[in-house]
Amino acid sequence: MSEETSLYEQMGGRATFEQLVSHFYARVSVDPVLRPMYPDEDFKGAARRLLMFLEQYWGGPKTYSEERGHPRLRMRHSPFHISEFERDVWLEHMKSAVDELKMREDLKKELWNYLVMAAHSMVNQPRDF
Ligand code: HEM
Repeated sequence: MSEETSLYEQMGGRATFEQLVSHFYARVSVDPVLRPMYPDEDFKGAARRLLMFLEQYWGGPKTYSEERGHPRLRMRHSPFHISEFERDVWLEHMKSAVDELKMREDLKKELWNYLVMAAHSMVNQPRDF
């Protein structure tokens, strides 16, 4: 076993990621742009998938891949219309959730930079003027 604490633990472990995702989805659930994109019957499931993915990405439990296989996030987002507009709405809610976290500033910045980068890579439609 490594003596080092994982990034996941340093970030606050499950409690942190649960807080992040629940704050984010509370906002998405009332957002006129994003809410219609998510499944009505499985909104909680969507929140759980994001939670598992983020935990795994940052070095926590690997439940995401056990349940869902390889993330292939760009491919899994291809059924949804994601232009810069939807991306920025997604990021706005995520920013609000990240800002609320009690976390070392350097780790918070790292988390935020990753989310911005990942959100940019999910755009699959030109901007519709
Ligand atoms: C750019 C704006 C984004 C939009 C509009 C968006 C929208 C969606 C929607 C509608 C779903 C389907 C919900 C479901 O799971 O049933 C989904 C799934 C998911 N999204 Fe996003 N997403 C965005 C960015 C991101 C980013 C940046 C990440 C990761 C950092 C992410 C991670 C996930 C994951 C892990 C799933 C579940 C995939 C699966 O296992 O099926 N999304 N997203």
